Amino acid sequence: MKSVSVVIIGAGPAGLLLGQLLQTSGIETLILEQRSPDYVLGRIRAGVLEQGTVSLMRQAGCAERMDKEGLVHHGTALMVKGQMHRIDFQDLTGSSVLVYGQTEVTRDLMAARAACGAPTIYEAEDVSFSGLDTENPIVRYRKDRMEHQIRCDFIAGCDGFHGVSRRSIPANVLKTYERVYPFGWLGLLSDTPPVDDELIYINDRRGFALCSMRSHSRSRYYLQCGLDEKIEDWSDERFWDALQERLPATHQARLVRGPSIEKSIAPLRSFVAEPMRYGQLFLAGDAAHIVPPTGAKGLNLAASDVYYLWQGLKEFYHHRQTEGLDGYAVKALARVWKAERFSWWMTTMLHQFPDQPVFETKIQQAELAYLFSSRAAMTALAENYVGLPY
Ligand code: APR
Ligand code: PHB
Repeated sequence: MKSVSVVIIGAGPAGLLLGQLLQTSGIETLILEQRSPDYVLGRIRAGVLEQGTVSLMRQAGCAERMDKEGLVHHGTALMVKGQMHRIDFQDLTGSSVLVYGQTEVTRDLMAARAACGAPTIYEAEDVSFSGLDTENPIVRYRKDRMEHQIRCDFIAGCDGFHGVSRRSIPANVLKTYERVYPFGWLGLLSDTPPVDDELIYINDRRGFALCSMRSHSRSRYYLQCGLDEKIEDWSDERFWDALQERLPATHQARLVRGPSIEKSIAPLRSFVAEPMRYGQLFLAGDAAHIVPPTGAKGLNLAASDVYYLWQGLKEFYHHRQTEGLDGYAVKALARVWKAERFSWWMTTMLHQFPDQPVFETKIQQAELAYLFSSRAAMTALAENYVGLPY
């Protein structure tokens, strides 16, 4: 039976980044991905990288295009009741974020893995595990109607929210925590210039809106929408009209309309699965947790999970020590829950909650009023947004 040190399930950002970092440490991996490369690259996701994520891409040797094309943002704007308030990351934290699409991160990681010749099996079907609680678990999968099995030391479950890894943890061991929000985000991607140099998070009485970007010529916009909304009911014109209404007066004339390249509706949820380890299976990224995109933490949480797992595996293979692996779940979850809190806080502060009691509306207004009146409060937002330390 074929054997490999670490089998990684999933060739999304978490699996690919872990694979590249382990490669730099001389640790052999195999990635099993159920979809094709084009399918994986077709997913449009957020594009705000914390410095920790940027640093890991550089350590993985995949940062050349990111460093050239990424946009450094030293702040962001929040618009409430028509008033724009800038959160100055540089002044408040001395740090910044890098705007660079997750699709590009994934593309760079895919290219690096292909270039170093590390194996990735795309369109691998029916991945399953056995012996997770033994020293050498077995991974099974089917490819081109052929059954395969691999013995390994560790399995990294980087297979996202709908993957097989979390579901492989026994029900009497796994605990999950969830909050589903009563609205979704309708997103549109267009080859039009952004309305501002920085992102604008908008709390409007008609609903939340976000003006983001991928470059100086490609914009990404979001509108809060009802859970019953259907994408076929949203023509480009209807989207642009609704966005225009929610923009600050200073920006309405700056909005450049154009055909949507991509348009989709995504639900918002907060979700955490514990433990992030079961035997030799380690969960990382969306397989273990989901955040509402308001705080732009999804990819960045996957990166910090990957960092902790990389350090633990490096320690094991280079020094045969297990302290890092034994402490992985607790360490990763500590940062996960802080990002869950921040993402929940940004979401509750900036969205219109249907049928919300007046008390909660008053609290939201007070939260915003306090935020903009206090350097300490703005510093707290900024230090979470640019990324808490690993
Ligand atoms: N077998 C093999 N691969 C699988 C399986 C399976 N049973 N189930 C899912 N996958 C693959 C998916 O096709 C996907 O390519 O695992 C990959 C998981 O990637 P993501 O869902 O992108 O999750 P992750 O790598 O943790 O990245 C988190 O992606 O979804 C966004 O907002 C999220 O920005 C965050 C980032
Ligand atoms: C995006 O550019 O897609 C994006 C940016 C910031 C967010 C969410 C999404 O908070």
